[in-house]
Amino acid sequence: MRLSLICLLIFIIGFVASRPSDSNDDKLENIWAVLIAGSNGWYNYRHQSDISHAYHILLKHGVLPEKIIVLMYDDIAHNPQNPFMGKIYNKPHGNDVYEGVKIDYRGENVNSEVFLNVLKGNAEGNRKKGTGRVLKSKPNENVFIYYSDHGGTDILGMPEGLLSRKDLNEALYHMYENNMYKKLLFYLEACESGSMFEGLSPKMNIYAITASRHNESSWATFCDNDMNLPCLGDEFSVNWMHNTEFVSF
Ligand SMILES: *[C@@H]1O[C@H](CO)[C@@H](O)[C@H](O)[C@H]1NC(C)=O
Repeated sequence: MRLSLICLLIFIIGFVASRPSDSNDDKLENIWAVLIAGSNGWYNYRHQSDISHAYHILLKHGVLPEKIIVLMYDDIAHNPQNPFMGKIYNKPHGNDVYEGVKIDYRGENVNSEVFLNVLKGNAEGNRKKGTGRVLKSKPNENVFIYYSDHGGTDILGMPEGLLSRKDLNEALYHMYENNMYKKLLFYLEACESGSMFEGLSPKMNIYAITASRHNESSWATFCDNDMNLPCLGDEFSVNWMHNTEFVSF
């Protein structure tokens, strides 16, 4: 519960609190978002489930679909093992979260190179990959990044290979140097996720919220569901999304 409250608070502070002050910049239309599930395989159902759910939450709150970039392997909804063909659930007997999700990069295009190109706005680098969409955020816009996957000290998983803290931090620094955001909010669900942002400067205006400290596990949830499905979500993710769904904007 404490975790939920913190998430809620940060979201409000990050994106909403300044709205009534007539600063046009913080409008929801000025938010860009990058959503990535860094795993594949039926057993990792929950990461793509988290990401699909987050997509709908952003849309519902008024983030423009043309400013949301989604990377997910897309091997869950139509997986032969799925008893609910074409559907993904993030909580037991909840709504299907898969329908309507627009995926920009799927399959082998979910990798660290493509992801880092998205962050850095490197359209040339992602030419001929997926939709090729990358961040085009302006200096007065806010960027939200949400990553759900396995991780370890200074690394995050990808369906193939890994994403290192060094490469991630370099991409974030590139974004800062090139004025690609006013504020950047990063939600990270992974074991040892607290290790991924160590060393970033506070002047970069990045608010990073992680599911665990640098030396802790993060946890899956809804694992003992009665739907014959693997774990449906992750604790940190399910909590921030639950809260955000019930905030009135
Ligand atoms: C993690 O590190 C903190 C110090 O940063 C320490 O207090 C804590 O006991 C450690 N936890 C584990 C599970 O090792």
